[in-house]
Amino acid sequence: MIPENAGPAAVIVLAAGAGTRMKSRTPKILHEIGGLSLVGHALRAARSINPQRLAIVVRHERDLVAGHVSALDPDAVIVDQDDVPGTGRAVEAALEALHAEQGLAGTVVVTYGDVPLLSGELLGELVATHERDGNAVTVLTAVLDDATGYGRILRGEDGSVTGIREHKDSSEAERLIREVNSGIYAFDAAVLRDALGKVTTDNAQGEKYLTDVLSLARAAGGRVAAVVTADRWQVEGANDRVQLAALGAELNRRTVEGWMRAGVTVVDPATTWIDASVTLDEDVRLLPNTQLHGATTVARDAVVGPDTTLTDVTVGEGATVVRTHGSGSVIGPRAAVGPFTYLRPGTVLGEKGKIGAFYETKNVTIGRGSKLSHLGYAGDAEIGEDTNIGCGNITANYDGEKKHRTVIGSGVRTGSNTVFVAPVTVGDGAYSGAGAVIRKDVPAGALALSVAAQRNAEGWVPANRPGTRSAELAQAATQNSSSTPASTEEGK
Ligand code: UD1
Ligand code: CA
Repeated sequence: MIPENAGPAAVIVLAAGAGTRMKSRTPKILHEIGGLSLVGHALRAARSINPQRLAIVVRHERDLVAGHVSALDPDAVIVDQDDVPGTGRAVEAALEALHAEQGLAGTVVVTYGDVPLLSGELLGELVATHERDGNAVTVLTAVLDDATGYGRILRGEDGSVTGIREHKDSSEAERLIREVNSGIYAFDAAVLRDALGKVTTDNAQGEKYLTDVLSLARAAGGRVAAVVTADRWQVEGANDRVQLAALGAELNRRTVEGWMRAGVTVVDPATTWIDASVTLDEDVRLLPNTQLHGATTVARDAVVGPDTTLTDVTVGEGATVVRTHGSGSVIGPRAAVGPFTYLRPGTVLGEKGKIGAFYETKNVTIGRGSKLSHLGYAGDAEIGEDTNIGCGNITANYDGEKKHRTVIGSGVRTGSNTVFVAPVTVGDGAYSGAGAVIRKDVPAGALALSVAAQRNAEGWVPANRPGTRSAELAQAATQNSSSTPASTEEGK
């Protein structure tokens, strides 16, 4: 049974090309913008129109690309293109692969794996026009200032589309045409199959051109038409790293604008980077130089930035995150993080908790209202509620071989520079003295002291460092205090 909202019979994503201009060991379509590979964007757009089948044609770096595609979209049919080059051959291979399992009738859409800004809306519009007008082929086109390299749209006297001429096969006059083929089409499946059977490699590049299908379909009596988009970004491919960056910036501009329209304050859109996968609530405020990646979500009234990078971080309602680098963490409602804080995976900060300046955390759960305000490391630990961890505290969780856990209760107050040598447990309401090295469990309510009593070796500096500035100052100080004890207070 075909669901009622069923889209086209198939989308075929072409991705067999080598992408040599990227000059990369990574296949072109695996390069990312907005936190998703180029082919990932193509698959998203394709899926959004709900095709009954989705095929992707691969060849260059076949295994890498196929593995990546299957991870993103397990239902995509991976099609291998043979030695015959050309977009026509690629589509032919896909049709064969799809036929092998069941007949194919209705609309077949073709897109590219390297055109990341194509939206599901525009693709849906292409299909809707195609089906409404009963076309044999509908091609998505754009009018460019510089059409060099693109296939040109040929139109008859009446304006109807008669065919496509590849740049390399075109005449001087045809090169003046500025309407170009995007390479994205809707075809009637039967027309496509029949026409591809007639396409030859008799052209400047010795390839089987998909573009030849248009004139063949027309000759067979079919209606061939174009949907012209005014949004050139949606049909632009990423062929080199300059285009990749330009497309990435434009995607980001669109994403940021979308969030602003949805009620997010973005103080500086130009320096705010938001992956396509991030979600934000109304009344979130993003300050300059903020980057939000992966599955990051930010709840209402939270303020993130400036200068903050979060990857896969959940920020709770009303929390503040300032100058922080974080990943795989949860920041509770109304909690405060930063400035200069490094949250590593597994950090869970409770409601109204605080992780302050120059703190690194990893794999630690911090209860509601607990504060780790300044200078320290907390890892492989569990901290209860309303506990105050003093300045410079460290959980020494690694013995050189294994990691161990530190468990600190609720209502605990630790002195500055306390070191917890894990595995160790500190009971509720316990205190520790400054500089304590906690190697043994501390019972609830106890004060843990581990530092030896202080001893002053008087006169050590003048005796052992004679002639130094320290010695001179020490001597002056001791003379003053012994001769006229009160003078320092009365004198100057
Ligand atoms: C193609 C179109 C051209 C259009 C342009 C838009 C043809 C003959 N020409 O030209 O009219 O203006 O795209 O960018 O279709 N691919 C395969 N197998 C192949 C060859 C290509 O899968 O054998 C894939 C590529 O990976 C790429 C897409 O098809 O995603 C287009 O290939 P490319 O070589 O860039 O086509 P162009 O010659 O630029
Ligand atoms: Ca191209």
